[in-house]
Amino acid sequence: MQARDVVLVDGIRTAFGKAGEKGFFWFTRADDMVVKVIRELLRRNPQVTPEMVEENVWGATTQEGDQGLTLGRTSAILAGLPDACSGFSVDRMCAGGMTAVTCAAAEIALGACDIAIAGGVEHMGHHPMGATAEPNPRFLADRLVSEDALSMGKTAENLHDMFPEVTKEMADEYAYHAQQKVARAYQAGKIQRTLVPMTVYTKEGWVVADRDQQPRPETTMDGLKTLKTPFRVQGNVTAGNSSGLNDGASGVLLMTADKAGKLGLTPRMKLVGFAYAGVKAEIMGYGPVPSTKKLFARTGLSMNDVGLIELNEAFAVQAIIFMREFGLKFPDDPRMNPWGGSIAFGHPLAASGPRLMIQLMHQFAERPEVRYGLATMCVGLGQGGSVLWENLQTTAQPSAAAGA
Ligand SMILES: CC(C)(COP(=O)(O)OP(=O)(O)OC[C@H]1O[C@@H](n2cnc3c(N)ncnc32)[C@H](O)[C@@H]1OP(=O)(O)O)[C@@H](O)C(=O)NCCC(=O)NCCS
Repeated sequence: MQARDVVLVDGIRTAFGKAGEKGFFWFTRADDMVVKVIRELLRRNPQVTPEMVEENVWGATTQEGDQGLTLGRTSAILAGLPDACSGFSVDRMCAGGMTAVTCAAAEIALGACDIAIAGGVEHMGHHPMGATAEPNPRFLADRLVSEDALSMGKTAENLHDMFPEVTKEMADEYAYHAQQKVARAYQAGKIQRTLVPMTVYTKEGWVVADRDQQPRPETTMDGLKTLKTPFRVQGNVTAGNSSGLNDGASGVLLMTADKAGKLGLTPRMKLVGFAYAGVKAEIMGYGPVPSTKKLFARTGLSMNDVGLIELNEAFAVQAIIFMREFGLKFPDDPRMNPWGGSIAFGHPLAASGPRLMIQLMHQFAERPEVRYGLATMCVGLGQGGSVLWENLQTTAQPSAAAGA
């Protein structure tokens, strides 16, 4: 069977809220956030009628409560997709949404369907990380992993141990630049194009969630220096150089290149390949290094071919190590996260993978000379995921192109 070309036609996300009672999504259900994304993808692309969507795939780390009952199916029904549209949910923790996209793309490539919606959601306010998980006691009793492996912040401290040349000051400097880049991208109106505003009920009444809550544009190096290190006494990892705890949903519209052409849609980028790889759970943040190497080995490409990189900043140390391994310039290589990253946007686990792809899609529009772009992220318990896309927006155009 010959694989078919899979293209990403559009993508959109909700703003990312702060998890907890102060977050604007506290009274909003996770599945309603997914519905918002699905409806917006269809609104922006009226050539795609709901009847044409054959598969709906969603990632979430906690698959219960308002994220339970097979989100892919529940959100399809709630969003008004036809009964005939099948749906399923996946979990690869932080890379749940990324995996939803690659699963849907694989179905399309192999001819199982022509058009799919895929994405990720995480309401970390309703579902604090790992709160209801019951890890098998053998993990610790048989020393399959150390206790650190179950705390993501501790795995980041472990990375500092493993690469002592990556100091706290470097992590803070990286975080400072991440905040600055997000502030600049907001000022230029770039991030707003990636978001669907959502009217939500909060303690202050109805508000429109149309801007991420997490960014701290006022961040200074001096301010970062003074923060506590909650994961280790006199450690290196702080609230300032970590991603936060957040709520959000992101999704994309995928189809065959052929279908996009027939519907008169402008595909934004084409899937070139993807790879996942495992590493020791205690250093989970290292994951994007082997997954990206595996991806390059399988596609015959290298970092020299890649003009844009969207790396999920779970922790600054992990981003810096990736940069060092691939010869990128510290602290802000122009190719990597040009609009900043999760340290400022926040990281609602499974929602982050599609966010990387959505930003890549918009950045490709601004950079028609760039051919390949990479989306990559680390995953709890020791994995990395990497997805390579080819820019199909090869003539200069404003990045708001698709119906925004
Ligand atoms: C690091 C972490 C524990 C911090 O949680 P928190 O304490 O609720 O975070 P807060 O936003 O309240 O920040 C803590 C303090 O740092 C301050 N702070 C945070 N970022 C700052 C910045 N950029 N500049 C200055 N101060 C900052 C806050 O103002 C707050 O100060 P306060 O205690 O005086 O109120 C949490 O964000 C976390 O666990 N992050 C990692 C998430 C994760 O593991 N994801 C999965 C990845 S694989």
